[in-house]
Amino acid sequence: MSTSASVGISDLSFATTHYALDHAVLAERLGVDRDKFYIGIGQERMSVAAADEDIVTIAAAAAKPIIDRHGVDGIRTVLFATETGVDQSKAAALYLHSLIGLPNAARVVELKQACYGGTAGLQFAAGLIARDPSHKVLVIAADIAKYEIDTPGEPTQGAAAVAMLVTADPSIIALDPQSGLYSADIMDFWRPNYRTEAIVDGKTSVNAYQKAAEEAWNDYRRQGGRDLGDFAAFCYHQPFTKMAYKAHKHLLESQGRTAEPEAIEAAIGKTTTYNRTVGNSYTASLYLGLLALLDQAEDLTDKVLAFVSYGSGAVAEFFSGTVVSGYTEHLRTEANRAAIDSRELLDYDHYRQLHEAQAPVDGKYHATVSETSRPYRLAAISGHKRIYESV
Ligand code: COA
Repeated sequence: MSTSASVGISDLSFATTHYALDHAVLAERLGVDRDKFYIGIGQERMSVAAADEDIVTIAAAAAKPIIDRHGVDGIRTVLFATETGVDQSKAAALYLHSLIGLPNAARVVELKQACYGGTAGLQFAAGLIARDPSHKVLVIAADIAKYEIDTPGEPTQGAAAVAMLVTADPSIIALDPQSGLYSADIMDFWRPNYRTEAIVDGKTSVNAYQKAAEEAWNDYRRQGGRDLGDFAAFCYHQPFTKMAYKAHKHLLESQGRTAEPEAIEAAIGKTTTYNRTVGNSYTASLYLGLLALLDQAEDLTDKVLAFVSYGSGAVAEFFSGTVVSGYTEHLRTEANRAAIDSRELLDYDHYRQLHEAQAPVDGKYHATVSETSRPYRLAAISGHKRIYESV
Protein backbone atom coordinates (compact mmCIF):
# COMPACT_ATOMS: atom_id res chain seq x y z
CA MET A 1 0.00 0.00 0.00
CA SER A 2 1.24 3.49 -0.78
CA THR A 3 2.12 5.62 2.24
CA SER A 4 2.31 8.76 0.15
CA ALA A 5 -1.37 9.65 -0.09
CA SER A 6 -1.51 13.21 -1.24
CA VAL A 7 -4.59 14.50 0.57
CA GLY A 8 -4.84 15.19 4.26
CA ILE A 9 -4.45 17.61 7.14
CA SER A 10 -2.12 20.59 6.77
CA ASP A 11 -3.08 22.49 9.92
CA LEU A 12 -4.96 21.71 13.13
CA SER A 13 -6.13 24.26 15.67
CA PHE A 14 -8.08 23.83 18.89
CA ALA A 15 -10.16 26.04 21.18
CA THR A 16 -12.20 25.43 24.26
CA THR A 17 -14.37 27.40 26.63
CA HIS A 18 -13.54 29.97 29.31
CA TYR A 19 -14.68 27.74 32.20
CA ALA A 20 -14.02 24.22 33.45
CA LEU A 21 -15.51 22.14 36.25
CA ASP A 22 -13.34 19.73 38.21
CA HIS A 23 -14.92 16.32 38.62
CA ALA A 24 -14.16 16.40 42.34
CA VAL A 25 -16.79 19.17 42.63
CA LEU A 26 -19.33 17.05 40.79
CA ALA A 27 -18.44 13.93 42.80
CA GLU A 28 -19.05 15.80 46.04
CA ARG A 29 -22.42 17.05 44.82
CA LEU A 30 -23.45 13.55 43.65
CA GLY A 31 -22.09 11.87 46.79
CA VAL A 32 -19.80 9.52 44.89
CA ASP A 33 -16.10 8.75 45.21
CA ARG A 34 -14.18 11.14 42.93
CA ASP A 35 -12.17 8.16 41.65
CA LYS A 36 -15.32 6.90 39.96
CA PHE A 37 -14.74 9.84 37.60
CA TYR A 38 -10.95 10.29 37.76
CA ILE A 39 -10.28 6.56 37.27
CA GLY A 40 -13.59 4.80 36.53
CA ILE A 41 -14.53 6.90 33.48
CA GLY A 42 -11.12 8.60 33.08
CA GLN A 43 -12.25 12.22 33.38
CA GLU A 44 -10.72 14.88 35.65
CA ARG A 45 -12.31 18.09 34.40
CA MET A 46 -14.74 19.23 31.75
CA SER A 47 -14.96 22.47 29.82
CA VAL A 48 -18.15 24.46 30.41
CA ALA A 49 -19.44 27.23 28.14
CA ALA A 50 -19.73 30.70 29.65
CA ALA A 51 -23.01 32.59 29.26
CA ASP A 52 -21.59 34.34 26.18
CA GLU A 53 -20.06 31.29 24.49
CA ASP A 54 -21.50 28.77 22.05
CA ILE A 55 -20.26 26.60 19.18
CA VAL A 56 -19.81 29.65 16.95
CA THR A 57 -17.52 31.47 19.41
CA ILE A 58 -15.29 28.45 20.06
CA ALA A 59 -15.27 27.51 16.36
CA ALA A 60 -14.16 31.04 15.45
CA ALA A 61 -11.40 30.86 18.06
CA ALA A 62 -10.21 27.53 16.62
CA ALA A 63 -10.37 28.58 12.96
CA LYS A 64 -8.88 32.10 13.19
CA PRO A 65 -5.25 30.94 13.72
CA ILE A 66 -5.56 28.83 10.55
CA ILE A 67 -6.78 31.83 8.54
CA ASP A 68 -4.01 33.98 10.08
CA ARG A 69 -1.34 31.47 9.04
CA HIS A 70 -2.58 30.46 5.59
CA GLY A 71 -4.92 33.21 4.42
CA VAL A 72 -8.14 32.27 2.64
CA ASP A 73 -6.75 31.70 -0.85
CA GLY A 74 -7.99 28.38 -2.19
CA ILE A 75 -10.52 27.79 0.61
CA ARG A 76 -13.63 27.20 -1.47
CA THR A 77 -15.48 24.96 0.98
CA VAL A 78 -16.15 25.27 4.71
CA LEU A 79 -17.69 22.24 6.44
CA PHE A 80 -18.90 22.77 10.00
CA ALA A 81 -19.71 19.57 11.88
CA THR A 82 -21.77 19.89 15.03
CA GLU A 83 -24.63 18.33 16.94
CA THR A 84 -25.07 21.52 18.99
CA GLY A 85 -26.40 23.66 16.13
CA VAL A 86 -27.64 27.16 16.95
CA ASP A 87 -30.12 27.23 14.06
CA GLN A 88 -32.19 24.65 12.20
CA SER A 89 -31.62 26.32 8.81
CA LYS A 90 -28.58 28.56 8.71
CA ALA A 91 -25.17 26.88 8.80
CA ALA A 92 -23.20 27.91 11.90
CA ALA A 93 -20.10 28.63 9.79
CA LEU A 94 -21.88 31.51 8.05
CA TYR A 95 -21.50 33.49 11.27
CA LEU A 96 -17.75 33.00 10.92
CA HIS A 97 -17.65 35.16 7.78
CA SER A 98 -17.94 38.37 9.73
CA LEU A 99 -15.96 37.12 12.75
CA ILE A 100 -12.86 35.71 11.06
CA GLY A 101 -13.15 36.82 7.44
CA LEU A 102 -14.05 33.76 5.40
CA PRO A 103 -14.13 34.14 1.61
CA ASN A 104 -17.43 34.80 -0.17
CA ALA A 105 -16.47 32.54 -3.09
CA ALA A 106 -17.05 29.41 -1.04
CA ARG A 107 -19.70 26.81 -0.24
CA VAL A 108 -20.48 26.72 3.47
CA VAL A 109 -22.39 23.79 4.95
CA GLU A 110 -23.26 22.33 8.36
CA LEU A 111 -22.99 18.55 8.84
CA LYS A 112 -24.71 16.42 11.46
CA GLN A 113 -24.39 12.81 12.56
CA ALA A 114 -23.71 12.91 16.29
CA CYS A 115 -20.00 12.66 17.12
CA TYR A 116 -19.15 11.28 13.66
CA GLY A 117 -19.80 14.57 11.78
CA GLY A 118 -16.20 15.83 11.86
CA THR A 119 -15.01 12.67 10.12
CA ALA A 120 -17.72 13.08 7.48
CA GLY A 121 -16.33 16.59 6.92
CA LEU A 122 -12.77 15.33 6.63
CA GLN A 123 -13.68 12.60 4.13
CA PHE A 124 -15.94 14.88 2.06
CA ALA A 125 -13.08 17.38 1.98
CA ALA A 126 -10.67 14.69 0.77
CA GLY A 127 -13.09 13.89 -2.06
CA LEU A 128 -13.34 17.52 -3.17
CA ILE A 129 -9.55 17.88 -3.14
CA ALA A 130 -9.11 14.66 -5.12
CA ARG A 131 -11.27 16.29 -7.82
CA ASP A 132 -9.29 19.55 -7.74
CA PRO A 133 -5.98 19.53 -5.84
CA SER A 134 -5.86 23.32 -5.77
CA HIS A 135 -9.00 23.27 -3.59
CA LYS A 136 -8.57 23.69 0.20
CA VAL A 137 -11.30 22.84 2.68
CA LEU A 138 -11.70 24.28 6.17
CA VAL A 139 -13.29 21.58 8.32
CA ILE A 140 -14.52 22.64 11.74
CA ALA A 141 -15.81 20.29 14.44
CA ALA A 142 -17.33 22.11 17.41
CA ASP A 143 -19.66 20.94 20.15
CA ILE A 144 -20.87 21.58 23.66
CA ALA A 145 -21.89 18.30 25.30
CA LYS A 146 -24.76 18.72 27.73
CA TYR A 147 -26.69 16.15 29.75
CA GLU A 148 -29.29 16.58 32.48
CA ILE A 149 -28.17 17.45 36.00
CA ASP A 150 -27.78 14.48 38.37
CA THR A 151 -27.83 11.85 35.60
CA PRO A 152 -25.09 9.31 34.76
CA GLY A 153 -24.27 11.29 31.62
CA GLU A 154 -23.52 14.50 33.57
CA PRO A 155 -19.81 13.73 34.23
CA THR A 156 -19.33 13.11 30.50
CA GLN A 157 -20.08 16.67 29.40
CA GLY A 158 -17.44 18.99 27.89
CA ALA A 159 -16.83 21.42 25.03
CA ALA A 160 -14.25 22.11 22.32
CA ALA A 161 -13.71 23.03 18.70
CA VAL A 162 -11.05 21.69 16.35
CA ALA A 163 -10.47 23.34 12.98
CA MET A 164 -8.53 21.54 10.25
CA LEU A 165 -7.19 22.77 6.95
CA VAL A 166 -7.50 19.89 4.48
CA THR A 167 -5.33 20.15 1.37
CA ALA A 168 -3.39 18.27 -1.27
CA ASP A 169 0.24 17.54 -0.37
CA PRO A 170 -0.56 17.89 3.36
CA SER A 171 1.89 19.05 6.02
CA ILE A 172 0.76 16.97 9.01
CA ILE A 173 -1.26 13.82 8.13
CA ALA A 174 -1.52 12.17 4.70
CA LEU A 175 -4.74 10.14 4.65
CA ASP A 176 -4.89 6.63 3.23
CA PRO A 177 -7.60 6.17 0.60
CA GLN A 178 -8.99 3.07 2.34
CA SER A 179 -11.77 3.56 4.84
CA GLY A 180 -13.94 1.10 6.76
CA LEU A 181 -17.60 1.99 7.28
CA TYR A 182 -20.47 0.83 9.48
CA SER A 183 -23.93 2.26 10.07
CA ALA A 184 -27.06 0.95 11.80
CA ASP A 185 -30.26 2.35 13.34
CA ILE A 186 -29.54 2.32 17.10
CA MET A 187 -31.15 4.46 19.83
CA ASP A 188 -28.13 4.82 22.11
CA PHE A 189 -27.90 8.63 22.21
CA TRP A 190 -30.05 11.32 20.61
CA ARG A 191 -31.42 14.82 21.16
CA PRO A 192 -34.93 15.63 19.92
CA ASN A 193 -35.35 19.15 18.51
CA TYR A 194 -37.26 20.34 21.59
CA ARG A 195 -34.47 19.48 24.03
CA THR A 196 -31.23 21.26 24.90
CA GLU A 197 -29.86 18.19 26.69
CA ALA A 198 -29.03 14.88 25.04
CA ILE A 199 -30.64 11.61 26.05
CA VAL A 200 -28.25 8.69 26.42
CA ASP A 201 -28.61 5.02 27.22
CA GLY A 202 -25.04 4.81 28.46
CA LYS A 203 -24.57 1.06 28.61
CA THR A 204 -26.17 0.59 25.18
CA SER A 205 -23.91 3.28 23.74
CA VAL A 206 -20.76 1.68 25.16
CA ASN A 207 -21.70 -1.65 23.59
CA ALA A 208 -22.85 -0.09 20.31
CA TYR A 209 -19.58 1.84 20.03
CA GLN A 210 -17.48 -1.32 20.47
CA LYS A 211 -19.49 -3.33 17.96
CA ALA A 212 -19.43 -0.47 15.44
CA ALA A 213 -15.65 -0.06 15.81
CA GLU A 214 -15.15 -3.77 15.21
CA GLU A 215 -17.44 -3.76 12.16
CA ALA A 216 -15.74 -0.67 10.72
CA TRP A 217 -12.37 -2.36 11.19
CA ASN A 218 -13.65 -5.47 9.37
CA ASP A 219 -14.80 -3.29 6.49
CA TYR A 220 -11.47 -1.42 6.46
CA ARG A 221 -9.71 -4.75 5.98
CA ARG A 222 -12.14 -5.75 3.23
CA GLN A 223 -11.26 -2.48 1.48
CA GLY A 224 -7.57 -3.43 1.49
CA GLY A 225 -6.61 -1.54 4.64
CA ARG A 226 -3.45 -2.07 6.66
CA ASP A 227 -2.67 -4.74 9.26
CA LEU A 228 -3.44 -4.15 12.92
CA GLY A 229 0.28 -4.27 13.70
CA ASP A 230 1.08 -1.40 11.31
CA PHE A 231 -0.21 1.38 13.55
CA ALA A 232 1.99 3.41 15.90
CA ALA A 233 -1.07 4.74 17.73
CA PHE A 234 -4.88 4.66 17.64
CA CYS A 235 -6.96 7.84 17.91
CA TYR A 236 -10.46 7.00 19.14
CA HIS A 237 -13.55 9.10 19.64
CA GLN A 238 -13.59 9.71 23.39
CA PRO A 239 -16.97 10.50 25.01
CA PHE A 240 -14.95 9.74 28.17
CA THR A 241 -11.39 8.56 27.96
CA LYS A 242 -12.06 5.13 29.49
CA MET A 243 -14.19 4.45 26.39
CA ALA A 244 -11.08 4.49 24.20
CA TYR A 245 -9.46 1.88 26.44
CA LYS A 246 -12.57 -0.30 26.32
CA ALA A 247 -12.87 0.01 22.56
CA HIS A 248 -9.22 -0.77 21.88
CA LYS A 249 -9.31 -3.82 24.15
CA HIS A 250 -12.45 -4.98 22.36
CA LEU A 251 -10.90 -4.44 18.93
CA LEU A 252 -7.74 -6.39 19.80
CA GLU A 253 -9.66 -9.27 21.36
CA SER A 254 -12.12 -9.41 18.44
CA GLN A 255 -9.10 -10.10 16.23
CA GLY A 256 -7.80 -12.84 18.49
CA ARG A 257 -5.03 -10.66 19.96
CA THR A 258 -4.13 -10.39 23.61
CA ALA A 259 -4.90 -7.00 25.09
CA GLU A 260 -2.19 -6.33 27.67
CA PRO A 261 -2.78 -3.07 29.60
CA GLU A 262 0.76 -1.84 28.80
CA ALA A 263 0.24 -2.37 25.07
CA ILE A 264 -3.11 -0.57 25.20
CA GLU A 265 -1.55 2.33 27.11
CA ALA A 266 1.25 2.58 24.52
CA ALA A 267 -1.27 2.59 21.67
CA ILE A 268 -3.70 5.19 23.02
CA GLY A 269 -2.43 6.74 26.28
CA LYS A 270 -1.12 9.99 24.79
CA THR A 271 -4.30 10.53 22.79
CA THR A 272 -6.34 10.80 25.99
CA THR A 273 -4.58 13.61 27.85
CA TYR A 274 -6.51 16.59 26.44
CA ASN A 275 -9.86 14.79 26.44
CA ARG A 276 -9.31 13.83 30.09
CA THR A 277 -9.52 17.50 31.06
CA VAL A 278 -11.73 18.92 28.28
CA GLY A 279 -14.43 16.26 28.46
CA ASN A 280 -16.62 15.12 25.62
CA SER A 281 -16.49 17.48 22.67
CA TYR A 282 -18.59 15.18 20.43
CA THR A 283 -17.44 15.89 16.82
CA ALA A 284 -14.12 17.38 17.95
CA SER A 285 -13.19 14.61 20.39
CA LEU A 286 -11.35 12.27 18.00
CA TYR A 287 -9.34 15.17 16.58
CA LEU A 288 -8.52 16.45 20.05
CA GLY A 289 -7.07 12.99 20.63
CA LEU A 290 -4.92 13.41 17.52
CA LEU A 291 -3.77 16.85 18.69
CA ALA A 292 -2.79 15.48 22.10
CA LEU A 293 -0.80 12.69 20.47
CA LEU A 294 1.02 14.99 18.05
CA ASP A 295 1.81 17.47 20.82
CA GLN A 296 3.33 14.87 23.15
CA ALA A 297 4.73 11.95 21.20
CA GLU A 298 8.37 11.75 20.31
CA ASP A 299 9.03 11.92 16.59
CA LEU A 300 6.11 10.38 14.71
CA THR A 301 7.54 11.05 11.23
CA ASP A 302 6.38 8.38 8.76
CA LYS A 303 4.46 6.58 11.51
CA VAL A 304 1.01 5.29 10.61
CA LEU A 305 -1.95 6.28 12.79
CA ALA A 306 -5.37 4.67 13.03
CA PHE A 307 -8.53 6.73 13.48
CA VAL A 308 -11.71 5.29 14.93
CA SER A 309 -14.69 7.60 14.60
CA TYR A 310 -18.07 6.84 16.19
CA GLY A 311 -21.29 8.81 16.24
CA SER A 312 -24.27 7.41 18.11
CA GLY A 313 -27.29 6.52 16.18
CA ALA A 314 -24.94 5.10 14.76
CA VAL A 315 -22.14 5.57 12.20
CA ALA A 316 -18.53 4.45 12.59
CA GLU A 317 -15.50 4.78 10.35
CA PHE A 318 -12.03 3.27 10.64
CA PHE A 319 -9.41 5.06 8.59
CA SER A 320 -5.68 5.68 8.67
CA GLY A 321 -2.95 8.08 7.71
CA THR A 322 0.77 8.69 7.80
CA VAL A 323 2.47 11.46 9.75
CA VAL A 324 4.32 13.72 7.32
CA SER A 325 8.00 14.62 7.64
CA GLY A 326 8.42 18.10 9.14
CA TYR A 327 4.98 17.97 10.84
CA THR A 328 6.25 19.40 14.14
CA GLU A 329 6.81 22.78 12.50
CA HIS A 330 3.07 23.02 11.89
CA LEU A 331 1.84 22.13 15.38
CA ARG A 332 0.37 24.60 17.86
CA THR A 333 1.39 22.83 21.05
CA GLU A 334 1.88 25.94 23.17
CA ALA A 335 -1.47 27.46 22.15
CA ASN A 336 -3.24 24.14 22.73
CA ARG A 337 -1.88 23.84 26.26
CA ALA A 338 -2.63 27.49 26.98
CA ALA A 339 -6.26 27.03 25.90
CA ILE A 340 -6.60 24.26 28.46
CA ASP A 341 -4.53 25.76 31.28
CA SER A 342 -6.14 29.21 31.09
CA ARG A 343 -9.65 27.98 31.87
CA GLU A 344 -11.25 29.38 35.00
CA LEU A 345 -12.48 26.73 37.44
CA LEU A 346 -16.16 26.92 38.37
CA ASP A 347 -17.77 26.29 41.72
CA TYR A 348 -20.86 24.09 41.72
CA ASP A 349 -23.41 26.92 42.01
CA HIS A 350 -22.00 28.82 39.04
CA TYR A 351 -21.85 25.63 36.97
CA ARG A 352 -25.47 24.91 37.86
CA GLN A 353 -26.54 28.44 36.94
CA LEU A 354 -24.85 28.16 33.53
CA HIS A 355 -26.34 24.72 32.98
CA GLU A 356 -29.88 25.87 33.69
CA ALA A 357 -29.81 29.09 31.66
CA GLN A 358 -32.23 29.04 28.72
CA ALA A 359 -32.01 31.10 25.55
CA PRO A 360 -34.71 33.78 25.28
CA VAL A 361 -37.51 32.98 22.85
CA ASP A 362 -39.54 36.23 22.87
CA GLY A 363 -37.65 38.01 20.07
CA LYS A 364 -36.83 41.02 22.27
CA TYR A 365 -33.31 42.41 22.77
CA HIS A 366 -31.34 40.41 25.34
CA ALA A 367 -27.75 41.40 26.05
CA THR A 368 -25.59 38.47 27.17
CA VAL A 369 -23.67 38.58 30.44
CA SER A 370 -20.02 39.33 29.71
CA GLU A 371 -17.94 36.39 30.98
CA THR A 372 -15.56 34.92 28.44
CA SER A 373 -11.94 35.94 28.02
CA ARG A 374 -11.79 34.09 24.68
CA PRO A 375 -11.48 36.03 21.40
CA TYR A 376 -15.17 35.91 20.42
CA ARG A 377 -18.45 36.19 22.30
CA LEU A 378 -22.17 36.06 21.80
CA ALA A 379 -23.04 39.68 22.59
CA ALA A 380 -26.83 39.51 22.39
CA ILE A 381 -29.87 37.82 20.98
CA SER A 382 -32.26 40.28 19.38
CA GLY A 383 -35.17 39.76 17.00
CA HIS A 384 -34.34 36.04 17.19
CA LYS A 385 -30.90 36.84 15.73
CA ARG A 386 -27.61 35.91 17.37
CA ILE A 387 -25.18 38.83 17.47
CA TYR A 388 -21.49 38.02 17.86
CA GLU A 389 -18.50 40.25 18.53
CA SER A 390 -14.73 40.10 19.02
CA VAL A 391 -13.60 40.51 22.62
N1 COA B 1 -12.94 4.03 41.70
C1 COA B 1 -12.58 3.59 40.47
N2 COA B 1 -13.51 3.18 39.55
C2 COA B 1 -14.81 3.23 39.88
C3 COA B 1 -15.23 3.67 41.15
C4 COA B 1 -14.23 4.09 42.08
N3 COA B 1 -14.55 4.53 43.29
N4 COA B 1 -16.57 3.61 41.18
C5 COA B 1 -16.99 3.14 39.97
N5 COA B 1 -15.92 2.91 39.20
C6 COA B 1 -15.89 2.43 37.80
C7 COA B 1 -16.86 1.31 37.51
O1 COA B 1 -16.34 0.05 37.89
C8 COA B 1 -17.02 1.45 36.00
O2 COA B 1 -15.91 0.89 35.35
P1 COA B 1 -16.10 -0.10 34.11
O3 COA B 1 -16.89 0.64 33.07
O4 COA B 1 -14.71 -0.38 33.66
O5 COA B 1 -16.85 -1.28 34.63
C9 COA B 1 -16.92 2.97 35.81
O6 COA B 1 -16.34 3.51 36.99
C10 COA B 1 -18.26 3.65 35.58
O7 COA B 1 -19.13 3.22 36.57
P2 COA B 1 -20.67 2.93 36.24
O8 COA B 1 -21.34 2.48 37.48
O9 COA B 1 -20.77 2.07 35.02
O10 COA B 1 -21.11 4.43 35.89
P3 COA B 1 -22.49 5.01 35.48
O11 COA B 1 -23.59 4.02 35.55
O12 COA B 1 -22.65 6.22 36.30
O13 COA B 1 -22.33 5.38 33.92
C11 COA B 1 -21.46 5.99 31.80
C12 COA B 1 -21.11 5.57 33.23
C13 COA B 1 -20.18 6.19 31.03
C14 COA B 1 -22.27 4.86 31.13
C15 COA B 1 -22.28 7.30 31.85
O14 COA B 1 -21.46 8.31 32.34
C16 COA B 1 -22.84 7.69 30.51
O15 COA B 1 -23.91 7.26 30.10
N6 COA B 1 -22.13 8.58 29.78
C17 COA B 1 -22.49 8.95 28.44
C18 COA B 1 -21.95 7.92 27.47
C19 COA B 1 -21.86 8.51 26.10
O16 COA B 1 -21.42 9.60 25.95
N7 COA B 1 -22.27 7.77 25.08
C20 COA B 1 -22.44 8.32 23.78
C21 COA B 1 -21.28 8.38 22.93
S1 COA B 1 -20.42 6.93 22.67
